[in-house]
Amino acid sequence: MASLLSTNLAILLLFVYLVSNSFVSANFYNDFDITWGDGRGKILDNGNLLTLSLDKSSGSGFESRNEYLFGKIDMQLKLVSGNSAGTVTAYYLSSKGTKWDEIDFEFLGNLSGDPYILHTNVFTQGKGNREQQFYLWFDPTADFHTYSILWNPQLILFSVDGIPIREFKNAESKGVPFPNNQPMRIHSSLWNADDWATRGGLVKTDWSQAPFIASYRNFNAEACVAKPGSPSSCGGSGSTALWWSEVVDSSKQERLKWVQKNYMVYNYCSDSKRFPQGYPPECNMG
Ligand SMILES: *[C@@H]1O[C@H](CO)[C@@H](O)[C@H](O)[C@H]1NC(C)=O
Repeated sequence: MASLLSTNLAILLLFVYLVSNSFVSANFYNDFDITWGDGRGKILDNGNLLTLSLDKSSGSGFESRNEYLFGKIDMQLKLVSGNSAGTVTAYYLSSKGTKWDEIDFEFLGNLSGDPYILHTNVFTQGKGNREQQFYLWFDPTADFHTYSILWNPQLILFSVDGIPIREFKNAESKGVPFPNNQPMRIHSSLWNADDWATRGGLVKTDWSQAPFIASYRNFNAEACVAKPGSPSSCGGSGSTALWWSEVVDSSKQERLKWVQKNYMVYNYCSDSKRFPQGYPPECNMG
């Protein structure tokens, strides 16, 4: 009896493993389109790897085929190595129109050996100005690392390798719009921004180092897919998955504080010069 039970258990575990694996090995050919760059964006390795490239004449970019309305979305990125000063790799979710919502990761390159800045922002109803910037606790060009966006009705949580770096709470109760009805696509692009990116535009792109390359792999989305004209894949009352009701628990809160204390470069919520009349309401959410 016991051995029958354990055989059944083994089969069940194998089944769970196979099913969950089939979600993990998402394929760039199925999920994304290269949208610009005239051949500079490439899908390689049977759809497991995507690369963007930038040279003096153009950058490149891609976007997801699906639009999402809430989800937990992971992507592994390996950023432009060596002298990447002046380059920006943007990885973000965005809806369309003049009152769009957007959740941004932007990686600002630097001279060899000098740190990248991870720039983040949240736009709601077309209004951003909510920048927070971080150094990373590793070299983001040496290996792939996982950059995640958790977006549910309570919060937007930015994480790096599972460590939360920024929380944007739903502050609708204080009159701050929250992205909750405009589906967003995943976008990424590699472009030249040497007018502002590195040390505020002081360091220019060294085109003798081109082409600059950023790489992507292991995309994974547990998300509600919104297809125009049909109901969300999660149904009317949202998803029953854990991410839908996830909040920042105390151990995550501690890691978030560690990052903010040791790696935060800029926080609009403490830039008193910029907000002499008082900080935006979402800054005082406790
Ligand atoms: C580049 O390196 C300089 C010098 O360490 C640093 O001040 C700056 O924050 C770094 N990052 C960017 C994107 O400028």
